[in-house]
Amino acid sequence: MAEAILLKDKRWSLSGMTALVTGATRGIGHAIVEELAEFGAVVHICSRNQADIDRCLTEWKSKGFSVTGSVCDVLSRHQRENLMETVSSIFHGKLNILINNAATVIAKESTDYTAEDVSTIMQTNFESTYHSSQLAHPLLKASGYGAIVNISSLAGLKAFPNVSVYAASKGAINQVTKNLALEWAKDNIRVNAIAPGAVMTLLLEACMV
Ligand SMILES: NC(=O)c1ccc[n+]([C@@H]2O[C@H](COP(=O)([O-])OP(=O)(O)OC[C@H]3O[C@@H](n4cnc5c(N)ncnc54)[C@H](OP(=O)(O)O)[C@@H]3O)[C@@H](O)[C@H]2O)c1
Repeated sequence: MAEAILLKDKRWSLSGMTALVTGATRGIGHAIVEELAEFGAVVHICSRNQADIDRCLTEWKSKGFSVTGSVCDVLSRHQRENLMETVSSIFHGKLNILINNAATVIAKESTDYTAEDVSTIMQTNFESTYHSSQLAHPLLKASGYGAIVNISSLAGLKAFPNVSVYAASKGAINQVTKNLALEWAKDNIRVNAIAPGAVMTLLLEACMV
């Protein structure tokens, strides 16, 4: 195992790189942080729960990873702005990697969604991805080598039952990923999306109604 990690490190390193991963105290975001940190990146995370952040930071410190964290509900425009100010301050105005991972799902028949459900899902998933990318743009550009990875979903490409609004939020992310990639290539910022299938996490459990 140690040999495999050493080999990975020789082929690919993120040493000297900085990253922000939203929604990283469990699930896919947590795994992304470990992967980035294992390759040498310095990482900042957020979630809505300070106790969970503290627990993760202690765990990562014991593994020798360089990770900081702060509370941010990505639903809130104001909290996103605060998060990016914190990141700018910690990383001296530069950021190499933004992982827009935090998301929520409310599983219902399409006839049952309320206006509030739709706003919550679209703001948490789509608007936060778009706005956080806007906020990060000057930091990514200043780094000279920026990358955004939007965590989309297979549900944004294919139809599954009871997740129509979540699916729409991910479909919107897929499209805007292409627009931002086109517009920001000139700033040396790559923008990509990953669309995972089913991964056994709390979010997936919430889909199973
Ligand atoms: N699991 C799957 O099968 C699957 C499939 C395709 C795509 N995805 C995508 O993968 C990403 C991660 O999902 P996951 O399955 O790993 O979910 P998860 O296990 O529920 O983890 C979500 C993480 O995001 C945080 N979070 C949730 N809402 C937040 C908010 N409003 N503001 C800030 N942080 C928030 C959670 O912490 P707190 O709740 O404490 O804030 C937690 O750290 C999402 O974009 C999801 O759509 C998942």
